[in-house]
Amino acid sequence: MEIIIEPDAGALADRAAQIVFAELARKPDLVLGLATGRTPIGLYERLRTKPEAFADVRFFNLDEFFGLGPSDPNSFNAFFYKHLLNHVKFQAKNVHLLRGDVKDLEEQAQLVEDRIKVVGGIDLQILGIGRNGHIGFNEPGSSLGSRTRPKTLEPETVAHYGGSIPNLAITMGVGTIMEARRCLMLASGADKAEIVCRMVEGPIMSEVPATALQMHPRAAAVLDEAAASKLKRRDYYKWVFANKWRVGQK
Ligand code: GLP
Repeated sequence: MEIIIEPDAGALADRAAQIVFAELARKPDLVLGLATGRTPIGLYERLRTKPEAFADVRFFNLDEFFGLGPSDPNSFNAFFYKHLLNHVKFQAKNVHLLRGDVKDLEEQAQLVEDRIKVVGGIDLQILGIGRNGHIGFNEPGSSLGSRTRPKTLEPETVAHYGGSIPNLAITMGVGTIMEARRCLMLASGADKAEIVCRMVEGPIMSEVPATALQMHPRAAAVLDEAAASKLKRRDYYKWVFANKWRVGQK
């Protein structure tokens, strides 16, 4: 996993936006996997500065609460419209967000898996990490080969949302996420330092689903100093990033 350490949450968002815009410049009809949470909000604010850049982007997302429709302010669909889609140019036919307001979550899961195949796979998947090591809503113990499916949430996850959300969600699987061509994990704040350390330097295990990213051929974690503070090889990662080979280098 490539580790990029930035001074603070603002610089982290700048770096993440730079990576997304570079992907958009390379492929204007990028298949972009979105993530919710407080962490990517700064990224979405920066993406909004180029509204035209999203006209041909195909949008997917990681997860959604069971039973919540896009008009529910607690839904992740509402989150994406509030923080990104309402501010950029996009085509409705290109929005493939998981829906929680369906009768059959398994059918919805299969539908989105099929759509990902039809568009040729996800090019860039944005990720955050839960304090328990989840990615999407792949809670600890999730199979590292799992596909998009309904998932029961940990009581701690429900409590994190103030208890005002359902116990059930639909989430892209760890295996589905791992098929994205590029993964961009964002983590900020001291409360993420411990789990970031386990994700990057700990053993790969379903107990910490985010550790699967160690097996991904092209995953980067953009961290702020606080989230990186417990990494044993922090200085080495900074050295590698400062000295890495870059396209066009002589
Ligand atoms: C939720 C989402 C995750 C996200 C996590 C972290 O649980 N399902 O996809 O990564 O929150 O959120 P935050 O960035 O607010 O810490």
